Amino acid sequence: MKLSQFGQQLTAESGIVNLMADLGDALNVNPDLLFLGGGNPAKIDEFEAIIAEHLHQIANNPDELHKLIGVYQSPQGSERFISALADYLNQTQGWNISEKNIAIANGSQSAFFILINMLAGQSERDHKKLLFPLMPEYLGYSDQGISDDYFLGNKPLIEKVGEHSFKYHIDFDALDITEQVAALCVSRPTNPTGNMVSDKELAQLSKLAKTNQIPLVIDCAYGEPFPGIVYQTTDYQWQPHHILALSLSKLGLPAVRTGIVIANEHVIEEFVKVNTIVSLANGNLGPDLMTRILQQGQLEHIKHTIIRPFYQAKRDHFIGELNKTLNGLPYRIHQAEGAFFLWIWFEGLPVSSTELYQLLKKQGVLVMDGAPFFFALNQNWQHTQECIRLSYCQTDDVLTQAAELIGLQVRALYQTE
Ligand SMILES: Cc1ncc(COP(=O)(O)O)c(C=O)c1O
Repeated sequence: MKLSQFGQQLTAESGIVNLMADLGDALNVNPDLLFLGGGNPAKIDEFEAIIAEHLHQIANNPDELHKLIGVYQSPQGSERFISALADYLNQTQGWNISEKNIAIANGSQSAFFILINMLAGQSERDHKKLLFPLMPEYLGYSDQGISDDYFLGNKPLIEKVGEHSFKYHIDFDALDITEQVAALCVSRPTNPTGNMVSDKELAQLSKLAKTNQIPLVIDCAYGEPFPGIVYQTTDYQWQPHHILALSLSKLGLPAVRTGIVIANEHVIEEFVKVNTIVSLANGNLGPDLMTRILQQGQLEHIKHTIIRPFYQAKRDHFIGELNKTLNGLPYRIHQAEGAFFLWIWFEGLPVSSTELYQLLKKQGVLVMDGAPFFFALNQNWQHTQECIRLSYCQTDDVLTQAAELIGLQVRALYQTE
């Protein structure tokens, strides 16, 4: 079979396809691996008990059951869900949005496929690109363009904090918004680093986007308004030139595949047309569950009492363990301000991070190689080969064992230098 250019583009070697293959293997086939790889959220029993209760109620009500399994959703998404969500966002975040500002998708990954290709690629006058102001960024964007050369990325400024921590900042002096730039895009908190682009940096990006009449895309898969895995306060106001991507996945529902786009009416109308062509309709399960959670006023409790404290405790435990097992080595952990990853930088690492990933896999610990997260940087930079990403969505016991194996492996590398 001869593939078209589109076919070749989407079947070529791909970071996200490899990542999900590793994830599937570790979670479904080879559960003995200590899995600190992909972006699966943790199993949180208290949250799953709330979902189980809603599912029972739906199953025991024939009307509700039929609406869940027997009816295609409207193109924009479930009216009940969109209306409940608009109310929630206006009340809790102080925004001023209407139902016309919201569209539903089958996961934010597929929402991004649509958004990226609606914004970037060949246009009337030139080839447009998405600019990531702060690399490293979410690997899942990297193969979503339906032709080559979709992305531009900015190298970060590095602030070293104390002996074993650091933080990336946006280098605004190097941010070049040319005619080719279709939109700016940040994930916040950032996958892979756990960085929170500060309120001040976000305000500056927003201003730059507005001046250049391009959208600012903010991927809030881990952040506010939900699931709220952010360990510091933030103050964000949606604006009509912002395109927000939200997801139910990191709340604990990755398998229901529900994403949400919040944007101005024009963007939503166009998005809905493409989504209907691609998906016909969205799944009902995520919207149904979330409508119930919103209508019964459970979301704040879930965010603040269940989800955030859970991940915060995991983060603290894991950092504590790594500080013990990496003691004396030249490591720095990115300030873990949100999401559920630790991003470790081994300055002067004797092998590449890709080799370290493979060595650790042999030892039974699956981590993420940091290099692919720098996908939009087209310059040689040693730092891109010195980082790994570790998810802390595991039991304390697994995290402790993983920290020990990582410590032993990295120490052996520095000692044989
Ligand atoms: C930053 C970011 N955005 C988007 C996604 C896609 O999530 P989903 O398609 O499950 O909504 C992920 C998944 O890991 C992510 O980490």
